[in-house]
Amino acid sequence: MALSVPLSNDVLDHLFYKARSFVDWQDKPVSLETLKTLYDLVKMGPTSANSCPLRILFLTTDAAKQRLLPHLHEGNVAQTKTAPVVALLANDMDFPQHFPALFPVAQAWFQGNAPLIEETAIRNASMQGGYFIMAARALGLDCGPISGFDAEGVNRDFFSESPYTSWKINFLCNIGYGDARTLKPRLPRLPFETACRVG
Ligand SMILES: Cc1cc2nc3c(=O)[nH]c(=O)nc-3n(C[C@H](O)[C@H](O)[C@H](O)COP(=O)(O)O)c2cc1C
Repeated sequence: MALSVPLSNDVLDHLFYKARSFVDWQDKPVSLETLKTLYDLVKMGPTSANSCPLRILFLTTDAAKQRLLPHLHEGNVAQTKTAPVVALLANDMDFPQHFPALFPVAQAWFQGNAPLIEETAIRNASMQGGYFIMAARALGLDCGPISGFDAEGVNRDFFSESPYTSWKINFLCNIGYGDARTLKPRLPRLPFETACRVG
């Protein structure tokens, strides 16, 4: 399906202009069904060679979240502890194993090329992380992305056992239904003239 019309202003507000990063959460759970629908949207975003290197560990219980808290920078503890779900978004450094199903001819391009595998994993899993935030918003969820944590510690505590040893944490994303009462004013963004050039 080719897309030829812009979405309505309401939808643009919902996804971009009025969407915020949240640190406080309503006491409202996120169902497993919603998490599955979220992934069904995320997986449709494009990746190079259809590599699909993003992997997600959803922490939904207090016990699971408790294991994560010691690895967080102090300012990120409260917002993560109270979030209904914490998503650990990881790069699967062994993503080529899925090429037979995802894109068979691509397997040969990556064979034995560790730098290309690493670059592809990081770039595309990060892009999928962006799709994750937008997909969550599309489903009426709010996000609080987090990069302030000890990556080595998270990998050790969550991804050191088979079959997860090839997962390397990229960033965390708290998800739930945000409490807008404590939001600080929006920070400015760079204007077109600063951030873009037209050649
Ligand atoms: C990848 C990523 C990492 C972030 N890491 C943190 C973090 O460690 N702690 C935090 O409080 N906010 C973190 N943020 C939130 C940003 O500060 C926030 O998205 C930005 O200031 C824009 O806020 P707004 O969406 O409300 O306009 C992160 C955001 C992203 C996308």
